[in-house]
Amino acid sequence: GFEVECRRSGRTLQVGPEESIVEALEDAGIPIETSCREGVCGTCETAVLDGTPDHRDMVLTADEQDAGDVMMLCVSRCSSGRLVLDV
Ligand code: FES
Repeated sequence: GFEVECRRSGRTLQVGPEESIVEALEDAGIPIETSCREGVCGTCETAVLDGTPDHRDMVLTADEQDAGDVMMLCVSRCSSGRLVLDV
């Protein structure tokens, strides 16, 4: 798992290995707008303020994934142990 800081809501939570970031946020009472929940539609795109995403989506180009400024919260994860998100 890894830690997610939600900068706008002022909450920090843990994302377990069996749940998505969207699911962990929903459990914490922070709803995220979603549609496909499979990394293909782009609805859940969210700005990354700090940390390194582990991209698992089919939306972003390779360059966008490398830049790491945004990520899809329904499928992508974290490779730096901690993310700070604009939510
Ligand atoms: Fe479709 Fe996340 S909800 S990419």
